[in-house]
Amino acid sequence: MMRTKASVALAAMLLGVAALPGRADDQPVAVQIVDAMNQVFGSHPGFRANHAKGVVVEGSFTASANAASLSRAVLFDGSAIPVTVRFSDATGLPEIPDGAAEANPHGMAIKFHLPDASETDMVLNALKFFPVATAAEFRDLFLAVAASPPDAPKPTPIEQFVASHPAVPAALATVATPESFATDNYFGVNAFVLINQAGDRQAVRYQVIPDQIAHLDAAAAAKRAPDFLMSELPARLQAGPVTFHLRAQLAAEGDPTGDATKAWPAEREVVELGVITLDQAVADSATAERSLLFLPGQVTDGIEPSDDPLIELRDAAYAESFARRGS
Ligand code: HEM
Repeated sequence: MMRTKASVALAAMLLGVAALPGRADDQPVAVQIVDAMNQVFGSHPGFRANHAKGVVVEGSFTASANAASLSRAVLFDGSAIPVTVRFSDATGLPEIPDGAAEANPHGMAIKFHLPDASETDMVLNALKFFPVATAAEFRDLFLAVAASPPDAPKPTPIEQFVASHPAVPAALATVATPESFATDNYFGVNAFVLINQAGDRQAVRYQVIPDQIAHLDAAAAAKRAPDFLMSELPARLQAGPVTFHLRAQLAAEGDPTGDATKAWPAEREVVELGVITLDQAVADSATAERSLLFLPGQVTDGIEPSDDPLIELRDAAYAESFARRGS
């Protein structure tokens, strides 16, 4: 039952109606994926291939005392680090209503501006784990959706894909429309390695948790104004700051770091790394977001990508999307 509902949601999420032309197998897989996104969602000049609709805000991050014992990264030294944060709706549709089921999972991309003028990024979304583990699977997911128009004979390619990839419906079942971007929780999904002054290495997955989590049911979400999330956050910030807790779930020996479909056991220790305080919207978000590029693998000394193959793929796909959207 859950599977059927989830596969409908997935098809809707990826708008599986357009037919894809034959895929260019000689292109890097990241390019094939951005091609597939453009073809499924349409090409919208100036906008991201995925998470096209968003809002940009600013604030700072201050690490808690124990963060430095896990990582020597300068952002964990306890001083206030300025951040630029972009919240977003899923899909490559710049006009998607914020309350649409397809706008899940909502995203949160964080850019930490370090004292030496370099940047370190975290790109999270509301999924507690990812539907697929590899680049090829992600491409094949899009291709299956594209090959499954409403009149496709059953079982359709997307039904077959979902049946053979149980992480797809399971992952989609972990998200819902939030009351506000300030009341959703966001997960890094991919593992990173924190390295401290002594050279000790600890694999982690990031979590960004609000003071209060609040979601809407699908019927209530569908009744909200099309831009309710985008306009609510700047209004909320005028009344006062919004805070989130940046946390790290610590891997234990044997936990898989290279497969984003596999959540680590819930009892794994979660350490508070610090508090993100957002205090203002940027004056012209639509202009600001065009020149912003968040890269999951852009990390400073003291943080390293794990062996998760999605990190490198994401870097390549985001750069490809950035090149197409211009700035
Ligand atoms: C196979 C894996 C993935 C691929 C190929 C992919 C692809 C993309 C692309 C092409 C963009 C547009 C980038 C731009 O123009 O700047 C994007 C944006 C985004 N993705 Fe992914 N993505 C993947 C996995 C993930 C995961 C695991 C997360 C979170 C856990 C995530 C969260 C986001 C967010 C939040 C944005 C918007 C970033 C912004 O605000 O600039 N994606 N993705």
